[in-house]
Amino acid sequence: MPVKVGIIGVGEYLPKKVLTNAELEKMVETSDEWITTRTGIKERRIASSSEACSDMALKAAQDAVAHAGIEAGDIDLIIVATITPDMPFPSVACIIQEGLGASKAVCFDISGACAGFVYAVITAQQFISAGTCRNALVIGSEKLSSITDWQDRNTCVLFGDGAAAAVLSEGKSGGGIFPYMASDGAMKDLLLVPAGGSRNPASRETLAGRMHYIRMRGNELFKIAVKAMSEAAEKSLEKAGLTAQDLDLFIPHQANMRIISAVAKRLGLPEEKIFLNIEKYGNMSSASTATALCEAVKSGRIKKGDIVMLDAFGAGLVWGSCIIKW
Ligand code: ACO
Repeated sequence: MPVKVGIIGVGEYLPKKVLTNAELEKMVETSDEWITTRTGIKERRIASSSEACSDMALKAAQDAVAHAGIEAGDIDLIIVATITPDMPFPSVACIIQEGLGASKAVCFDISGACAGFVYAVITAQQFISAGTCRNALVIGSEKLSSITDWQDRNTCVLFGDGAAAAVLSEGKSGGGIFPYMASDGAMKDLLLVPAGGSRNPASRETLAGRMHYIRMRGNELFKIAVKAMSEAAEKSLEKAGLTAQDLDLFIPHQANMRIISAVAKRLGLPEEKIFLNIEKYGNMSSASTATALCEAVKSGRIKKGDIVMLDAFGAGLVWGSCIIKW
């Protein structure tokens, strides 16, 4: 009999600086009207120059651990989902371990881009179900502003910075987590940062070519995202023996309002069952579903007994979903 896993605490941290569409109009050739109608985004948060991924992650983690009512010493596992770590190594998770004083935790990062938080929740669930650990801290934290090309209107209007965390625990809460994950490396070139790794280490040429920034074929990704997120939702519903009508709340990755609407339409979900924060934060990659989950819990949108779905898609390509019986 697998161990039931539930989420016992959530937390978040958003940088103070707000960057509005009106401000972006002064930086690139765009308009509030284009950004709003094409994406649903009105503003996003931007971390300060002294704030790194781990600084935001630590604040979100402290919030989640306090909300869970456990001590840092009770945490056995820390997983940070990020594509914007402070540095290639050590992992952000190890930096968080020191900051929290979670001395007995095993720590590692995962690279799942926008699906990173969903991948991390499912990974933690597998560890707990297998009896390898009891309490896992899972964090999605991104400083996407550090890899955004602020001269490229195709991408710079989309992204923002932030962090959120959840504490997963065995048996204490909820009725289990039903996961689905998928990947397709054949489409890796649709969304990437070409330089800064071992393929193209930093050089004058990579800097001159603006190769350290996000490059995205958005239009092609749009259609794949709708299909992949719908498929992920259907597969985890099937695993859980549920239909979309059984969901109390659907928490999709917040990349584009039109993608979310198209997925919801395919699933037959009404607007009131969809949690949105894209308007105020834009796409924060792994931090998007994480902050949405945190805000849904803390605002009372998720209540005990609810059936909640996280559903995300991102660079890799990777996608996945999980149903959480709260
Ligand atoms: N302001 C004004 N015009 C713009 C802007 C802008 N900011 N950006 C693009 N345009 C123009 C384009 O140049 C193009 O002009 P043209 O027709 O003269 O060539 C026109 O608008 C249409 O461009 P499209 O790319 O076709 O616009 P689309 O409706 O597809 O919207 C968007 C673009 C928002 C990027 C959308 O395709 C999208 O959201 N894609 C999916 C993104 C995604 O899901 N990514 C995965 C997750 S992210 C991660 O993993 C890190």
